[in-house]
Parts: sequence; structure tokens; C-alpha cells
Amino acid sequence: MKNYLFLIFAFSLAIMMGLTSCEGKDGSIGPEGPAGPTGQTGEGTQNCVLCHGSSQLIAAKQFQWEHSVHATGGHYERNQTSCAGCHTSQGFLERIETMSDQGVTAADIEDPLPQNCYTCHQIHRTYTAADWAFTQEDPVTLWEGGQTVDLGKANLCISCHQSRVVSPALPDPSTGGLVNIQTTRYGPHHGPQGVMLPGLNGYEVAGPQPYENSAHTLLLANNTSKACIVCHMGTAQATESGGHTFRVISEGGDINTDACVACHPVAADVEALVEDRQAQIEEKIAELEQLLADRGLYDIAKGQNSKGDYTGHEAGALYNLKFVEEDKSRGVHNFKYAYALLTNSIAALQ
Ligand code: HEC
Ligand code: HEC
Ligand code: HEC
Ligand code: HEC
Ligand code: HEC
Ligand code: HEC
Repeated sequence: MKNYLFLIFAFSLAIMMGLTSCEGKDGSIGPEGPAGPTGQTGEGTQNCVLCHGSSQLIAAKQFQWEHSVHATGGHYERNQTSCAGCHTSQGFLERIETMSDQGVTAADIEDPLPQNCYTCHQIHRTYTAADWAFTQEDPVTLWEGGQTVDLGKANLCISCHQSRVVSPALPDPSTGGLVNIQTTRYGPHHGPQGVMLPGLNGYEVAGPQPYENSAHTLLLANNTSKACIVCHMGTAQATESGGHTFRVISEGGDINTDACVACHPVAADVEALVEDRQAQIEEKIAELEQLLADRGLYDIAKGQNSKGDYTGHEAGALYNLKFVEEDKSRGVHNFKYAYALLTNSIAALQ
């Protein structure tokens, strides 16, 4: 409530400043006003009304966003140089401007903000509808693996939702080798969805399952499909899912099947498909966790690996486990690839 009052206050103040700067001759107060007929007091503010008027344009999106994990997750406190490029709004804008190596910011970000309207849209740059353009739409060269991926509008998402560089690196699965792991959080970090959807960079050890991709890769991982946005920003179901909540599944567990209907016309069918595939992935995850635990490499309760020497296949199996777990869709993004990584890792450890 306090926030709203403040915003209303700030907004009225800015409108007044807008008025002044539009009628003034030198334009020295506030940001340069929008282009508009000159000489008549207040004409310029018509551009403000384009977005801030009585329409729901902004209000509905704000309300949805407030219920998204981007707003509520709380991890924007990760404002250190190596984290802020994905975890804070300011850090992200700095890194896409400077294109710094691995997204490291020059300094810790003060007063960090989570991903918000300004992170993704070019708000208040022209004061026209062009401000809705994204801040980042270029194809993304993945930090881990180095391939360039082009998901069109969803390049925005995968600028952050990609693996971080794993250290130490994994050996080539066909040659093997020892890996000395000195962290209990070995793996691709928490948001590798942009790598899972196109089916890249798992530890592809040979085994019973071929490395293939699911239909979603072909249909939804290309530069005309909108990729992530199709499923995660489907028709908004109030603040439960869809739109700027960025959720496919509500906190109560309901799938926003409106986002799937173009390809899966029967809601009950796609719900059953998700349940079936997620159950298969969960079973494989449990099996692989147990195998790693049996070797003293994994603490199932803590979800952490142990430090020390691993064979290449052990480290690769651990990486694959983390990759599929951290993707969090449990097979929806790219079932065949996730299933093959787990199944072949299990076979390699047996
Ligand atoms: C293209 C759409 C658009 C136009 C045009 C626009 N704004 Fe905004 N404005 C936004 C958005 C989006 C936000 C961020 C809302 C949020 O953070 O929830 C915002 C936020 C604000 C805020 C809140 C403080 C801040 O900076 O975050 C003020 C004040 C404001 N705008 C004033 C103006 C004024 C004055 C004009 C006209 C000169 C204007 N805006 C034109 C979209 C627009
Ligand atoms: C600036 C980096 C950045 C961008 C751009 C970004 N995200 Fe995120 N996203 C994050 C971070 C960081 C989190 C975790 C936030 C937290 O926990 O505080 C997150 C959380 C999420 C979540 C919730 C995850 C969960 O565990 O519940 C979803 C879903 C999501 N993002 C989807 C998207 C989509 C879709 C896009 C593109 C339209 C996108 N994100 C763009 C960084 C980003
Ligand atoms: C390449 C972008 C990127 C970088 C760099 C990054 N993160 Fe993240 N991080 C994410 C995304 C995206 C998520 C949300 C993933 C999700 O929920 O699926 C996330 C989630 C997290 C979470 C929440 C995990 C969970 O499961 O709830 C923590 C904690 C975290 N990051 C810590 C860090 C720390 C510490 C650093 C710096 C050492 C860092 N991150 C650097 C993208 C990044
Ligand atoms: C994580 C990135 C992200 C954030 C944060 C975000 N948006 Fe968006 N926004 C998008 C994407 C992606 C689309 C395009 C969706 C599509 O194409 O279906 C979009 C579309 C829009 C549109 C429609 C634009 C048009 O061209 O008609 C509006 C309006 C909008 N967003 C407002 C907001 C407001 C207001 C906020 C802050 C409360 C916000 N967005 C925060 C990613 C974001
Ligand atoms: C085919 C539809 C689809 C596409 C395309 C898609 N997702 Fe998902 N995503 C899902 C579903 C369904 C879940 C699982 C939700 C659950 O079970 O909790 C999910 C889970 C997630 C999660 C974990 C948090 C959550 O909401 O459960 C994140 C983060 C995420 N996806 C980001 C992305 C990103 C980034 C992309 C683009 C690279 C993407 N997704 C593409 C459907 C999709
Ligand atoms: C652009 C079209 C498209 C969209 C959008 C789409 N899917 Fe799919 N999906 C397919 C196709 C094609 C298949 C493969 C045929 C089948 O198994 O029915 C598939 C397969 C699946 C599978 C099984 C994966 C496998 O390889 O066995 C799941 C689970 C799934 N979709 C869930 C979803 C969910 C949930 C959504 C919406 C949030 C969604 N899909 C949106 C096209 C799409």
C-alpha cells in the first residue's frame, strides 16, 4: 500500500515536471519531454497517458509481475560481481551494455533490484510504444559450451536462463579421465533451461538411449517460435499463471493449458502427458541419486555432492543429474534428451 501511495505521488510529481519541461524553453528540468505540438501547455503528456492513462496496459502487467518469482524470489541479494549480471536488474543492463566476459559486473551492485519492467523493456527511452522493445534480443553465445543459440524474442530469457561455466571442466565422455571436484555444488547452476530446450551440453556418455530431442526442440527452439514465451507467458490466468507471472504451472499445481492448446488441443491429454513424463524423469533421478550415494559421492538429503576425485563418468553423471534437476521442468522442456542423459549415466555407473 505504501508503495502505491509513493508511486502515485511520484507519478503526479513527474507529470507536473513533464508539464513544466514541455512548456519551458530550455527543457532543463527533468528528462527531455516527448515530441508533441509545442507551445500549448501540457500537450507532451499525452505520451505519458499512452501508458499511464486509465488503460490497464501497465497495471495488469504490474499486478502479474508482482506475483512472479522474478519479483518474489528474493535472490536479487546476490549482488556480487559474478552473480549480479543475472540476479539484479542493474547488473543485467550493465552486462548487456558492456558484453563483459561471463557477465561479471565492474563492481558489486548497490541497491540491487530484481528483474523488473526496466530489465526487459526499454522503458522511458523514447516515451512512445517503441519503449516496449526488449533490452536484449540478440542471439546468445552460451557461456558453457560456446554455441550460439537463437530463440528470437526468448533470447532475452536465455541471456540469464543458461548454465554457468562448470569448474573443473568435464572430460570428453569417450576418453574419460579424473576430475577433482572442490565444491559441494558441482553442476550447471540453477537455471539451465535455455540449454535443455535446444538439447545441448549434457555429458553424452554412450549407453542404451540415443541422444535425440523431443518435438519441443524442433518446434519451440528457433528464432520464430517465441520459445519460452509461448508456454511461460500464455494467456494470463489472473495472477496464477501466464502473462507476466512467467509461470506455466500455478502454485496450486494447475497447468496453464491455454499455452499448450495450439499443439495439444485437449487439456486433459496434455495434463496426463506431463504427469507421465515427469514421473518417468523422477524415477530416473531417484535411481541415479542412489547410485551416486552408494559410491559416497552424493548426499541425497542435502542435495549436495562430496568433494574429491571422481572418474570422468562419475563427474559426468553428477553433472547430468544436476542439469536435469536444475532445469526444473522434469522432462517437459526436452523429455528425450533429459531421459537419455539420466538413463545412460545410470548405465555407466552400473
Ligand atoms: C511506453 C510506456 C510508457 C510511457 C510512454 C511512459 N511511461 Fe512512465 N512508466 C512506464 C513503466 C512500464 C513504468 C514502470 C512501472 C513499474 O515499475 O511498475 C513507468 C514508471 C513511471 C514512474 C514511476 C517511477 C519510475 O521511474 O519508475 C513515473 C513517475 C513515470 N513512469 C512517469 C512518466 C511520465 C511523466 C511520462 C511521460 C513523459 C511517462 N512516464 C511515459 C511506462 C511508460
Ligand atoms: C536478468 C536475468 C533474467 C531474465 C532476462 C529472465 N529471467 Fe527468469 N529468472 C531470473 C532469476 C535470477 C530468477 C530467480 C529469481 C529469484 O529466485 O529471486 C528467475 C526466475 C524465473 C522463473 C521462476 C523460477 C522458479 O524456480 O520458480 C521463471 C518461470 C522464469 N524466470 C522465466 C523467465 C522467462 C520466460 C524469461 C523471458 C521472458 C525470463 N525468465 C527472463 C533471471 C532472469
Ligand atoms: C547466467 C545467469 C546467472 C548467474 C551468473 C548466477 N545465477 Fe543464480 N540463478 C540464475 C537463474 C536463472 C536462477 C533461477 C533458476 C530457477 O529457479 O529455475 C538462479 C537461482 C539462484 C538461486 C536459487 C536457487 C533455487 O533453487 O531456489 C541461488 C541461491 C543462486 N541463483 C545463487 C547465485 C549465486 C551465489 C551466483 C554468483 C556466484 C549466481 N547465482 C549467479 C541465473 C544466474
Ligand atoms: C523478464 C522479462 C520481462 C519483464 C520483467 C517484464 N516484461 Fe513485459 N514483456 C516481456 C515479454 C517477453 C513480452 C512479449 C510477450 C509476447 O510476445 O507474447 C512482454 C510484453 C509486454 C507488453 C506488451 C507490449 C506490446 O508490444 O504490446 C507490455 C505492455 C509489457 N510487457 C509491460 C510490462 C510491464 C509494465 C512490466 C513491469 C511490471 C514488464 N512488462 C516486465 C518480458 C518482460
Ligand atoms: C513446451 C512448453 C515450455 C517451453 C517451450 C518452456 N517451458 Fe519452462 N516449463 C514448462 C513446464 C510445463 C514446466 C514445469 C512446471 C512444473 O512442473 O513445476 C517448466 C518449468 C520451468 C522453470 C522452473 C520453474 C517453474 O515455473 O516450474 C523455469 C525457470 C522455466 N521453465 C524456464 C523456461 C525457459 C527459460 C524456457 C526457454 C528456454 C522455457 N522454460 C521453455 C513449459 C515450458
Ligand atoms: C508448438 C507446438 C507445441 C506447444 C505450444 C506445446 N507442445 Fe508439447 N508437444 C508438441 C509435440 C508435437 C509433441 C510430440 C507429440 C506428442 O507426444 O503428443 C509434444 C510433446 C509433449 C510432451 C511429451 C514429451 C515427449 O517427448 O515425450 C509433453 C509432456 C508436452 N508436450 C507438454 C506440453 C505442455 C505442458 C505445453 C504447454 C505449457 C506444451 N507441451 C506446448 C508440441 C507442442
